[in-house]
Amino acid sequence: MFRDMLSLVLIFRGVGYPSLWPSKDCQQPLDVSNDFTFKVIDGILSDFSKVFKFKFVHLGGDEVNTSCWRTTSHISKWLKQQGMNESEAYQYFVLKAQKIALSHGYELVNWEETFNNFGKKLSPKTVVHNWLGSGVAENVVKAGLRCIVSNQDKWYLDHLDTPWQQFYLNEPLTNIKESSQQKLVMGGEVCMWGETVDASDIQQTIWPRAAAAAERLWTPYGKLAKDTTLVTGRLAHFRCLLNQRGIAAAPLAAGGRGTPYEPDSCYKQ
Ligand SMILES: *[C@@H]1O[C@H](CO)[C@@H](O)[C@H](O)[C@H]1NC(C)=O
Ligand SMILES: *[C@@H]1O[C@H](CO)[C@@H](O)[C@H](O)[C@H]1NC(C)=O
Repeated sequence: MFRDMLSLVLIFRGVGYPSLWPSKDCQQPLDVSNDFTFKVIDGILSDFSKVFKFKFVHLGGDEVNTSCWRTTSHISKWLKQQGMNESEAYQYFVLKAQKIALSHGYELVNWEETFNNFGKKLSPKTVVHNWLGSGVAENVVKAGLRCIVSNQDKWYLDHLDTPWQQFYLNEPLTNIKESSQQKLVMGGEVCMWGETVDASDIQQTIWPRAAAAAERLWTPYGKLAKDTTLVTGRLAHFRCLLNQRGIAAAPLAAGGRGTPYEPDSCYKQ
């Protein structure tokens, strides 16, 4: 959906530059007190901006656990000197990374925790990426920011038990009535994370549930089938086409990523 977005999931391991770590025993998040941290981010985004001519860069900012900043003495000392607590330092880090990305001409995507914690401080060029649950997009667009919807209860492919019907019926514009606000919802994204997959099962984890979400995103809500049994045959047909082309799309009938019920025609599974 977002071909003009460079999505970076950079987990810094600090192997090349151990000084990015708070300490050898407490390795993340990156050392907020160290200017070198931001020099590295600047260098990476500078290189990226020359290679990837995309409009957006995803800067993450989710699931940040700041306990290493508290327990590492040179950082906790720095926080005191700056008069910042951990959550203020988290904000400082994200906003500083945003400024760096903006300086390289990117617009920004950040996970919703940044909005939930300090939404008013985010750059107006921020797209907030929802994932924790529903009800976030309406707050984001009310605040005048753009949003990508990926609520994990419906649109996370690594939730193996979520059936295709839930992918199909998820509505990104729930409770967003004004067209000016609806325009700020850029769309949705189903997410495939690495926890539950490897080369042996990635295709059936993605398909056909991603196809159900794709139809949802290409179809105005009013034209969507309210009764998903009207979709089953068509989606089953599509899954069989995928199988015939060598893509190991999973059966529909199992609910979630499942196995066929019994030996039978592909169209009936
Ligand atoms: C946060 O990180 C600390 C140190 O790495 C760890 O002991 C703690 O369990 C983490 N907390 C959560 C909620 O993950
Ligand atoms: C950090 O400081 C801010 C501003 O004083 C305060 O609102 C917030 O509750 C503090 N957070 C924590 C975790 O202490």
